[in-house]
Amino acid sequence: MRHVLERLAGRVGTRTLVVLGGVVLAAVVGVPALAIARRGPAVPQPVAFNHLKHTEQLELSCEFCHQYVRTSAHSGLPDAATCSLCHATPQGTSDEAARVTELLAAGDPLRFNKLVRMPEHVFYTHRRHVAIAELDCEICHGAIGTTERPPRRALVRMDMDFCMDCHRERDATLDCNACHR
Ligand code: HEC
Ligand code: HEC
Ligand code: HEC
Ligand code: HEC
Ligand code: HEC
Repeated sequence: MRHVLERLAGRVGTRTLVVLGGVVLAAVVGVPALAIARRGPAVPQPVAFNHLKHTEQLELSCEFCHQYVRTSAHSGLPDAATCSLCHATPQGTSDEAARVTELLAAGDPLRFNKLVRMPEHVFYTHRRHVAIAELDCEICHGAIGTTERPPRRALVRMDMDFCMDCHRERDATLDCNACHR
């Protein structure tokens, strides 16, 4: 990188070089930073939940923990009450499973945090998409149901184009007022 800039310096003035260097630096440093800023900060969780163990090995349905996914706007996240059904007594042999039982015994509410959060002005409902349009979770959430650790950010970025592209394909509404309140 440096000698390319030096060779260029032979042909163009130093001012141009400084500007060019600045542009290159901004491109190298700024683009990843901007990408992270657009995706939002990493989301912390109280324990290292393992979807794969619970969905494939224990064959729990998504609705077991995301209770309202077919009936409401929000599908809901599980909390201590759901985890206690099994982890009130020790399960398996891993340290993290043992920690879940300890946290529950100490009265921790196990508050999980959302990865995707629509802005206030957007209206979205799971009922319409899951129960009526019968769309798979993966289309919008990627393969989170088989992750072994909580992802730090949403696996799929749902911006307005993402919603609009599917609505156009499937003849669903493109009316601003359907999604914006
Ligand atoms: C058409 C896209 C789409 C599909 C299909 C979809 N979701 Fe979502 N999901 C979203 C959006 C958008 C949000 C954020 C909602 C908000 O913040 O208002 C979300 C949020 C969530 C949340 C966080 C809690 C909440 O309700 O805000 C969970 C859990 C979730 N979805 C689970 C599921 C499961 C399980 C399925 C399949 C049965 C599913 N979703 C199918 C778009 C989708
Ligand atoms: C239906 C029973 C059941 C429910 C409900 C349940 N678990 Fe588990 N969980 C298990 C069993 C059994 C294991 C041990 C599996 C193994 O080690 O093979 C386990 C393992 C774990 C582990 C260790 C994973 C690993 O990578 O070793 C964590 C963490 C965990 N559960 C968290 C939770 C949390 C958090 C909840 C609530 C949101 C929950 N579980 C709900 C039965 C359950
Ligand atoms: C035993 C409980 C349990 C089961 C069963 C379960 N989940 Fe989850 N789910 C969680 C927990 C706990 C979190 C938060 C921690 C994490 O992301 O791992 C979560 C988070 C999510 C999120 C992130 C939502 C957001 O944006 O905040 C999605 C999407 C999701 N689950 C989809 C699924 C799908 C799809 C299935 C079925 C294939 C499923 N889950 C089955 C407990 C469960
Ligand atoms: C993969 C396809 C798909 C994606 C992605 C999708 N939708 Fe939809 N959406 C549909 C379909 C199909 C319907 C019509 C369902 C029905 O028959 O009621 C619908 C219906 C709706 C409705 C009800 C509209 C009405 O007629 O009142 C709203 C609101 C909506 N979607 C918002 C959103 C938002 C917001 C997003 C992005 C976060 C989104 N959708 C992403 C397929 C999709
Ligand atoms: C199918 C749902 C849907 C429809 C229809 C829709 N929007 Fe959006 N719009 C969204 C979502 C979701 C966001 C939030 C995107 C994000 O947070 O990245 C958004 C964001 C916006 C924003 C905020 C700026 C931004 O990019 O975040 C404006 C302004 C906007 N929409 C205008 C419109 C107008 C005007 C129309 C009609 C031509 C329209 N929208 C139709 C889903 C929709």
